[in-house]
Amino acid sequence: MLEQIIPIVREAGDIVLSARDIWSHTHEKTSAADLVTEYDLAVENFLKEKLPPLVPGSVFFGEEEAENADPTRGWAFIVDPIDGTTNFVRGLKQSAVSVALACDGAVECAVVYDPFKEELFSARRGGGAFCNGAPIHVSERPLAQGVFGMGTAIYRREYLEPTMRVTEQLFRRSCDFRRLGAASLDLCDVACGRLELFFEYSLCPWDHAAAGLIVTEAGGFVSTLEGDPLSLSDRCSVWASNRVNRDLLRELEV
Ligand code: IPD
Ligand code: CA
Ligand code: CA
Repeated sequence: MLEQIIPIVREAGDIVLSARDIWSHTHEKTSAADLVTEYDLAVENFLKEKLPPLVPGSVFFGEEEAENADPTRGWAFIVDPIDGTTNFVRGLKQSAVSVALACDGAVECAVVYDPFKEELFSARRGGGAFCNGAPIHVSERPLAQGVFGMGTAIYRREYLEPTMRVTEQLFRRSCDFRRLGAASLDLCDVACGRLELFFEYSLCPWDHAAAGLIVTEAGGFVSTLEGDPLSLSDRCSVWASNRVNRDLLRELEV
């Protein structure tokens, strides 16, 4: 199945790269911080046409136009057409197409594609994680020698204070941190050992579904900040780490 999904996601990445004059194809969804471009919609429509026929009876759960369907029952494609839309609009070249295929609430296949770096991360449950076909692993660095990534839960400003509190606690224990602006790629950066940790107080299923499996298949850990499994049906917080820093979560005031 991964072999069939990958060329479709690469083609979706070509739509992202074809974008021109993005600001004039951009609209506010709920606020100036919540944008959608005509390219988000074009990528989602393309994936909605191409992916479900691969798995008869599957549902399509995309960010821009989720079917009225439960992604935790039966087969479901969980899709973020462009993760990192703010980066995309501003030409910051840190965005990805994210596709997960789940069965009864468990992600089985995952693809996250950064068309700007031409990096395609993939995983199959139990089959390891890969970047452009080469196996990837989380780092073995403790946070004291490490760098962590974080997200600001931009659509849920009520999490500002705890976000800053956790950021401060981690920053004091680390070398530095990054806010790169595409959660799926932040998680893939943990998976391939570029970052030791990542957290964000509120993400949607399409932000983490694919990359969550990529982290675990790369030998890392993902959970909510409360230590629970990630939700595929609702917003939740996300914590991802390599093996060495797994227990750090228990020491933090979240
Ligand atoms: C967002 C990005 C961002 C994260 C937000 C997400 P979008 O996704 O992943 O890094 O901080 O919480 O919603 O809106 O660009 O698809
Ligand atoms: Ca997203
Ligand atoms: Ca998006």
